[in-house]
Amino acid sequence: MKKAMITGITGQDGYYLTELLLAKGYEVTGIVRRTSTPNTSRIENFLSHPGLKIIEADLCDSSSLHKAISLVKPHEIYNLAAMSHVATSFFQPEYSADVNGVGTVRLLEALRSNNLEGFTKFYQASTSELYGKVQAIPQNEKTPFYPRSPYAISKLYAYWAVVNYREAYGMFTSNGILFNHESPMRGLNFVTRKITSSVAKVKQNKMSVLKMGNLDAKRDWGYAKEYVEGMWMMLQQNIAEDFVLATGETHSVREFITEAFRAIDIDIEWRGKTGSLEEKAFCTKSGKVVVEISPELMRPAEVDLLIGDYSKARTKLGWAPKTKFSELVNLMMENDMRLVAEGKL
Ligand code: NAP
Ligand code: GDD
Repeated sequence: MKKAMITGITGQDGYYLTELLLAKGYEVTGIVRRTSTPNTSRIENFLSHPGLKIIEADLCDSSSLHKAISLVKPHEIYNLAAMSHVATSFFQPEYSADVNGVGTVRLLEALRSNNLEGFTKFYQASTSELYGKVQAIPQNEKTPFYPRSPYAISKLYAYWAVVNYREAYGMFTSNGILFNHESPMRGLNFVTRKITSSVAKVKQNKMSVLKMGNLDAKRDWGYAKEYVEGMWMMLQQNIAEDFVLATGETHSVREFITEAFRAIDIDIEWRGKTGSLEEKAFCTKSGKVVVEISPELMRPAEVDLLIGDYSKARTKLGWAPKTKFSELVNLMMENDMRLVAEGKL
């Protein structure tokens, strides 16, 4: 039986990857950090599965990682754990570097100190945020990086550590350079889920106005469930390489909001100078303001445009995205309409 270890198992991607690996018959070990209230709500349904074990450890603590790896000796490690919120990283730059950057090296070193460098395959959750102020459109594995946040800088360090350990020690280490991927499991403070949960509340009269930051940012948004399959495919190769996973389509935050309202049959109209602090969205039928801008939600430095070229993944892994932009918005809206109606949001 194949053994996989997932750091960040309690997050969005951790949920979908656990589901996938358990369905494939893996014995899965999840690394969960200690918190004062339970942080396992996403994976609640899997906790009684005989194929799943949980070990308490932290990316900021080398000895806990060393022990976890020595207990399990996994065939595959998926390093998904991170302080993953870009805006937060501007307020917690040092912590972001510790978890995302040094944390990755701690995990790689834990493999080496357990003499597993020739045995365990390692997946690193790299990111399209590395492209930052983009140097080419679309972005692929050869596009130079230009990080624009403490989060992206920490992930740049981890990216190169993964390349370096592959070259220096011959380890099977792969970077998945994943563009934004969303789902009903997405954290509530990422823009897509913030929009779908808030629009559902506006519809059900539990919120009147949605406050937003930069509406002009464009992202390549895919469905998380499909992206974790790509992660697994990367580790089934004979040779470790880095791969971009993306949809090849880009949409602005403004378009996402319009689409979310449309999904529940509300037409909105944008008024005020596009991109200005005065810009607002009105419900066409009621004339009420439903979206306005909050300057404090703007970031000190922004990533304006991401659009990925996933041809390498399509050719070498046979991976391609399936869910289109409007389908993704619809499935997230459907979920949040139900949760709001049940009083769970
Ligand atoms: P997420 O929902 O924020 O999950 C992050 C996970 O990391 C959570 O399980 C969290 O635990 C855990 N974690 C944080 N600090 C930790 C620490 N010190 N020790 C151990 N675990 C820790 O993120 P996601 O969206 O699933 O993304 C997964 C990974 O892919 C992240 O590394 C992210 O940076 C990267 N990525 C994401 C995207 C995307 O669009 N989603 C795109 C590219 C790359 P708690 O539950 O206790 O907080
Ligand atoms: N979160 C948030 N909240 N973002 C907003 C808001 C708001 O109220 N208003 C506008 N935005 C804009 C942000 O300024 C950004 O340009 C865009 O919406 C997307 O923000 P997020 O959803 O927070 O994601 P991100 O693109 O910064 O980062 C995510 O994707 C990366 C991959 O490119 C995270 O999942 C990262 O961990 C991941 O690496």
